[in-house]
Amino acid sequence: MSPSPTPGSPSNRAELIPRPDQPLPTGDAKVEAVRAMFDTIAPNYDKVNRIMTGRLDVRWRRTTVDALGLAPTSIIADLAAGTGDLVYELQDHGMSAIGVDLSMGMLAAAPRPFPRLQGDALSLPFPDGSLDGVTCGFALRNFESLPRFFAELARVLRPGGRIGLLEVGQPSNPVLTAGFDLYFGKVVPKIGARFSDARAYAYLPRSVDYLPPPTETLRLIGGAGFDRSHHRQLTGGLAQLFTATLRRS
Ligand SMILES: C[S@@+](CC[C@H](N)C(=O)[O-])C[C@H]1O[C@@H](n2cnc3c(N)ncnc32)[C@H](O)[C@@H]1O
Repeated sequence: MSPSPTPGSPSNRAELIPRPDQPLPTGDAKVEAVRAMFDTIAPNYDKVNRIMTGRLDVRWRRTTVDALGLAPTSIIADLAAGTGDLVYELQDHGMSAIGVDLSMGMLAAAPRPFPRLQGDALSLPFPDGSLDGVTCGFALRNFESLPRFFAELARVLRPGGRIGLLEVGQPSNPVLTAGFDLYFGKVVPKIGARFSDARAYAYLPRSVDYLPPPTETLRLIGGAGFDRSHHRQLTGGLAQLFTATLRRS
């Protein structure tokens, strides 16, 4: 791990997380808000995640790694790795995995060590064409620019390399959408406030507004040089998974 200090005292950093009455940040302000939020919630992140999803998140990560369809010896980077859940899943599949995350707090809160680097998923410390695959869990909405993210994936993957990108859902069925909005918008902030940080878990549901519709995300993935791009809803749309293969020139 290559630690670099997170700027500001803990109380200053909490101020970087937008309150519900403040607009969602963009550009560098978004990067700093995201880093501050995850540094803040890191100690109880795993516990709150399991409560929020009823452990469905564990199943969704397994589906993500299965969907890569790569050999056990593959070299995979898990971007926005957080506390390492997808890295552990990749390792359970026999793959060599390295995690990258912006938040030192999240990496440090991992329950057991794994190969990891502090860094930005939009500017990776890997040579061109050096990876067989990339996974990313619940972070697309946190990135400052999705086109830059997909371009960076295309740079670091070998031709034929695979991506598996897991996110919270955007259900298309109106009834499911209403239920999802109620749960994510009202219940999740309460669970977060009870077990972690109220301001961070009030921001978290709002951050879904950063996500473009799935068709637009697929268009961006294709535009970055990927083929066989595919979107699927998991558990009735509570989560979603994007997969694609880097074009062989
Ligand atoms: C919701 S957590 C997901 C963590 C983990 N992937 C999982 O499945 O539990 C989102 C993670 O994205 C990280 N993140 C956000 N923006 C990032 C960036 N630009 N580069 C690297 N990591 C980033 C955060 O620090 C946080 O750990």
